[in-house]
Amino acid sequence: MAFALGDPSFVSDHGVRFAYVAGAMGKGIASEAWVIRLARAGILSFFGAGGLQPSRIASAIDQIQASIGPADPFGINFLHNQLVPAQEDVLTDLLLSRNVRTIEASAFIRVTPALVRYRLTGLQDGPDGTPRPLNRVMAKVSRPEVARQFLAPPDPAIVAALRGSGRITAREAELAQSIPLADDICAEADSGGHTDRRVAFTLVPHFVRLRDTIAIETGLRQRVRIGAAGGLGTPEAIAAAFMLGADFVLTGSINQCTPEAGISDTAKDMLAQADLPDFDIAPAGDMFEIGARVQVLKRGTLFPGRGNRLYELYRTHAGLHEIPAPVLKEIEERYLGRSIAAVWEETAHYYARSAPEQLTEAEANPRKKMAMVFRWYFIHSSRLAIEGRPDQRANFQIHSGPAMGAANRWLKGTDVEDWRARHADILAERLMTEAARVFEARLDAFARKAQPDAGLRAVTRI
Ligand SMILES: Cc1cc2nc3c(=O)[nH]c(=O)nc-3n(C[C@H](O)[C@H](O)[C@H](O)COP(=O)(O)O)c2cc1C
Repeated sequence: MAFALGDPSFVSDHGVRFAYVAGAMGKGIASEAWVIRLARAGILSFFGAGGLQPSRIASAIDQIQASIGPADPFGINFLHNQLVPAQEDVLTDLLLSRNVRTIEASAFIRVTPALVRYRLTGLQDGPDGTPRPLNRVMAKVSRPEVARQFLAPPDPAIVAALRGSGRITAREAELAQSIPLADDICAEADSGGHTDRRVAFTLVPHFVRLRDTIAIETGLRQRVRIGAAGGLGTPEAIAAAFMLGADFVLTGSINQCTPEAGISDTAKDMLAQADLPDFDIAPAGDMFEIGARVQVLKRGTLFPGRGNRLYELYRTHAGLHEIPAPVLKEIEERYLGRSIAAVWEETAHYYARSAPEQLTEAEANPRKKMAMVFRWYFIHSSRLAIEGRPDQRANFQIHSGPAMGAANRWLKGTDVEDWRARHADILAERLMTEAARVFEARLDAFARKAQPDAGLRAVTRI
């Protein structure tokens, strides 16, 4: 019955077995092997391209495409790049050149020309007169104002500029206003990794209504599907998401603790031990200055406390020169494992190549320089967890949320209690199959109670 959950058009459009998605995990944690395994099982997943160089993404696409059938589902994460916007164009070129037909667009606040170009390239008239996009966009969003942009056609000003520069054809530009920017929008409630800490019970129904309202306003024929993500790690949670009106579900945290995920065994051992309260909120390294947050594993590491302390120091000081020497010494010895001068040298070298204007700004602005030095710690702590240096566990930054703890409890005593047996496709199958049973049992119980004489029988029994 798992196939009966969600919107059937999700299954047919994406060529998958059920309305379930395994979401991207950046820096290749959602690895090639992980995507390949899910694709072969007929489950849609997204390669974790965030934080990787274009050459690494290109080789991942090549490996995935060489290992799966032409109709097997897979996609690539298209993470908005606030620091170096030009990188988005590089990614679009790469995706188009490799015929990648589905992306998971995330971290967007305003839709960018690079994303619109991906969506519109190949847009043509379908046989029944409905415009048919070649490239599918699934947007992962937690704010209604961002969802609006994906539910509507692409911004006409962006379309005109793309046409003006010859980056899309005249027909693609003409048809642009008759399709929504996204085919699927996933409403992301409080999740592992970057989180706006929204509540699924309010977010999903709100997005469903927003979709219906905007469909009337725009008159578009294509119905955008609404999915649910955040906190999904048990069959009951999956069943609840469908009951809220989700057309599909998307999991994250639980997929990191699987054999094919690209993170160390040490980190997976730590995740497999986690219970519901073992997670905390820390600053997001990539959006440190604006106060963005990530949800991370707390048990077995000191990272959340250390990350929050760095953010507090950043908030209350004008530059590294204002921070007392003993505090800086502690940060160098315990957090960074090297001198601040060494961190700055590495950081400056990186920015000199990738974004020299940022480096010039930082050299004139001690607060920006402090942010860049602290941000290095967030890159370093992620790398430590991915590489799995056991002596550095105190600094492991492991993105995850309570869905992981809930899954550990659900799977305790089963044949997949050990993460080495917990392949992501097995998790998907079990979640969906058991969610269908939960759904059925609840509906049966409801139907029995809702029979006209049921109240009478209940009274008689008393
Ligand atoms: C380790 C990890 C890394 C993640 N990296 C990304 C990413 O690079 N891009 C992205 O769109 N979402 C990323 N996510 C979010 C997931 O794709 C998914 O939306 C989220 O984890 C769902 O919530 P849950 O963790 O409560 O299941 C990441 C999640 C985790 C756990």
